[in-house]
Amino acid sequence: MTTNKPGILFLHGYPLDNRVWSEQLGFLDGHFFLFRPNFPGFGQTGPGENNVYAIDGSSPIYISLEFTDWTSLAGLSDWLANAIDQLHDMLPTVPDKWIVCGLSMGGYVALEFWKRHRYRVAGLVLTNTKASIDDDKAIANRLAVVEQANSLGSDSVTLPMLPKLLAQSSMETNPKVVARVEAMMRSISSTTISRSQQAMIFRNSFMDDLGVIDVPTLVLAGARDVITPGSLMESMAAKIPQSYFKVIEDAGHLAPMENPADWNSEFLSFLAKL
Ligand code: MLT
Repeated sequence: MTTNKPGILFLHGYPLDNRVWSEQLGFLDGHFFLFRPNFPGFGQTGPGENNVYAIDGSSPIYISLEFTDWTSLAGLSDWLANAIDQLHDMLPTVPDKWIVCGLSMGGYVALEFWKRHRYRVAGLVLTNTKASIDDDKAIANRLAVVEQANSLGSDSVTLPMLPKLLAQSSMETNPKVVARVEAMMRSISSTTISRSQQAMIFRNSFMDDLGVIDVPTLVLAGARDVITPGSLMESMAAKIPQSYFKVIEDAGHLAPMENPADWNSEFLSFLAKL
């Protein structure tokens, strides 16, 4: 038996983990089946560890999935589909369809998931992300990041990202968010940095697919996001037939953490439209 109500699948960005969604759980618990996995290698997961966290009603469920030595974002989307199959085997209440919500790298995976596992997707929420691929400069930068992480350690490449990920106002006035982002960054290994950077270099473009996305899609930008600027996200949204575009004020690249009140309110309005 499965329920008709979609579940919500939250996909985190880089160099973060599923703690990025902490502000989204409370108001949804008990109303939706929530699933917020750590991608393998993120959030201090490793072989043999319980690396998937789901919530059915208000009860947390930990499931242990085989650790995948993934090399592509398409592979990660297949890993997620496999995780959902495992959840189905464990619980009768697991939904068939999902609202897939991805932040940045999680957004790239959300688009792969929509393309490869379309029958499971009831809607998309794309926050602080894009559909295009890297230019030569971005690829060179990723290769330099991999080299530096391997020679000088992971913190040497992740910690300097803080002022790019967060709006200046968050940096200055929100020490709790700064500390939480820093804690996530400190938990990523150079192996995971290397694997995810390479997967992002070789990711697929979804620019030609935007016009055929056939599910309601909420596109959320941070007003102060310098990594995926609002103008870029607005033009992406304009190409998606059933899309809603909103800008979250006082937020940079991590809008769900930086301004959870506004982000959650847009998210809830979107859910109410489905
Ligand atoms: C992220 O936040 O996931 C990254 O900025 C994505 C990327 O490096 O392209």
